[in-house]
Amino acid sequence: MKHPGARARDAADPLAPLRARFVLPPGVIYLDGNSLGALPAHTAGRLQQVVSKEWGQGLIGSWNDAGWIDLPTRVGDRLARLIGAAPGEVIVADSTSLNLFKLLATALRLRPARRTLWIEGGNFPTDSYIAEGLVDLLNTLGHADPPYRLLRGAPDDLRAVDGEVALVLLSHVDYRSGTLRDMRAIAARAHAAGALVLFDLAHSAGAVPVELNACAVDFAVGCGYKYLNGGPGAPAFAFAAERHHPGLRQPLTGWLGHRRPFAFEPVYDGQPDIRQLQVGTPGVLGLAALDAGLDPLLEAGMPRLREKSLALSDCFIQALDAHLARLQLTLVTPRSAEQRGSQVSLRHPNAFAVMQALIARGIVGDFRHPDILRFGFAPLYVSFEDVACASEGVIDVLQSEAWRAFSTRPAGAVT
Ligand SMILES: Cc1ncc(COP(=O)(O)O)c(C=O)c1O
Repeated sequence: MKHPGARARDAADPLAPLRARFVLPPGVIYLDGNSLGALPAHTAGRLQQVVSKEWGQGLIGSWNDAGWIDLPTRVGDRLARLIGAAPGEVIVADSTSLNLFKLLATALRLRPARRTLWIEGGNFPTDSYIAEGLVDLLNTLGHADPPYRLLRGAPDDLRAVDGEVALVLLSHVDYRSGTLRDMRAIAARAHAAGALVLFDLAHSAGAVPVELNACAVDFAVGCGYKYLNGGPGAPAFAFAAERHHPGLRQPLTGWLGHRRPFAFEPVYDGQPDIRQLQVGTPGVLGLAALDAGLDPLLEAGMPRLREKSLALSDCFIQALDAHLARLQLTLVTPRSAEQRGSQVSLRHPNAFAVMQALIARGIVGDFRHPDILRFGFAPLYVSFEDVACASEGVIDVLQSEAWRAFSTRPAGAVT
């Protein structure tokens, strides 16, 4: 028997039965749930029901009869349970990028005398781009005086966060290295300077326990298509702590953020709660798929998911550890469990070709520019045997130099 140790761990794993609730193509070891979560088996049925019955038969009446209109807050309330938020503090809408824009602007309005936006220099690009776009808008069209400015820094050095800083924006888990930040300490540090804090939870929602309220976080955003298994382009989410709801004033003042959208009033009067973050008509199919994606996560619960995720990433690191130097691999992800998200990243000078060779063997992770191999361990459907096979695959692709055959392959539009 191959990998008896791993098989024994799978047999003893209380979450192992959940794997059968996902559609996983035969011959594929899927370690990219940090980019696009796998398809839950019941999602197709749920969509079929929404399409055929609610849309096909119920037609427009389904906005009320099937509760479509409340899906953004209903799904938000379920998601809130995974991120330590209360009902009414999370809405599912739009993309992470758009939600960032709305919440960054909200936060700046809450600290009108402060003109600095502290952002994590190495954050996922959209976070920085959106912050840049907002600052540019305020300074050019708004003629802000003194002007707004961005201050770029590292999450482990918040010394520059002073009385000028309105908001600290950073990721809870770094998308490249998989480093998990100390949310409580960062929020406390920002608050000590009188600043607000906004966490991007793209790589932590559904992957690691998140305690937004216990850490007194002000705002958060995150993706629905990664560990939440909502499907490609799934709607994103936005969190605003209830204490900020009276002061919410976001700039994308669409009709569905209005207190009475169906009164069709000529002048905007925003909802005094999380619903103000909604802009236009919700995408019902995407919301229904995300709702279905949350089921197995809520069933398993974050503590058990975290325990398994760490056990999986530990196994992967241990299996490769003795070979790292000789294979020109560098472990980028922290070894310490407290600082590790649900992925393991390795640096290699030929990372792109190495990942292509792995994918050709059915071991699917991804590549991040310029030299990072990422392996995500979604604990709902990744098994210990997957980890054993994947680590063997990595060693073999490098040892045999099988990656060389892929070194001239052009990259697809999406890596
Ligand atoms: C940290 C982080 N933020 C934001 C995004 C993307 O957000 P959007 O849903 O707007 O594409 C990603 C996508 O991978 C991400 O990793």
